[in-house]
Amino acid sequence: MSVHLRVAVPADFPAVVRLMNVAYRGSGPGASWNTESTFLAGDRTSEALLREELSASPDAALLVIDDPEDAAVKGCVFLEPVSGGVWYLGSLTVDPRLQAQGLGRQLLHAAEQWVAQQGARTIRMKVIHVRDTLIAWYLRRGYLLTGETHPFPYGDDRFGIPLRDDLTFVVLEKRLAG
Ligand SMILES: CC(C)(COP(=O)(O)OP(=O)(O)OC[C@H]1O[C@@H](n2cnc3c(N)ncnc32)[C@H](O)[C@@H]1OP(=O)(O)O)[C@@H](O)C(=O)NCCC(=O)NCCS
Repeated sequence: MSVHLRVAVPADFPAVVRLMNVAYRGSGPGASWNTESTFLAGDRTSEALLREELSASPDAALLVIDDPEDAAVKGCVFLEPVSGGVWYLGSLTVDPRLQAQGLGRQLLHAAEQWVAQQGARTIRMKVIHVRDTLIAWYLRRGYLLTGETHPFPYGDDRFGIPLRDDLTFVVLEKRLAG
């Protein structure tokens, strides 16, 4: 099975926002197996924030995958060149109804191939340190913890409201083959 990535257009933004909010912050039955809802409340993003992030990074790409049956957006990923062949990967998301069936793995692989075609040699990402099962998932995909950490943006509630005061980001990195 392979996934087809396409660059999101503004008409996709409402669906991408709904997808990200339910995947990152949904709770109860049907929530993502790695939901953030136990340590972050509120929405993950909004259309305004998405537009702001994309306009702040003109070289970045928001890619989506569509459901072949009804053309609904079922996954997304944000990719941004940093420097010297390093690309940042964020917002990797799969519709929770379709999770744990291998789609996330395929989406990540397709994103790695997409950036490699743009000349990327390394992918970096930040993950909140308490997300053990998600970090383990990335380690199984060949990512390594670099040992770097970044402070959580306490005081800036645009990405959600922290429910604990010890959150921090860890950095993961993968060297792409070739
Ligand atoms: C992270 C994400 C993209 C993965 O997508 P997915 O479709 O669930 O991933 P896959 O089906 O390919 O993989 C599921 C894996 O999770 C494991 N898994 C499933 N349920 C689990 C659970 N409750 N606890 C731990 N691992 C679990 C499976 O064993 C499988 O592992 P393997 O591929 O190493 O065998 C998706 O879960 C998601 O959208 N999460 C919310 C958004 C988010 O936080 N993204 C991360 C941004 S850094």
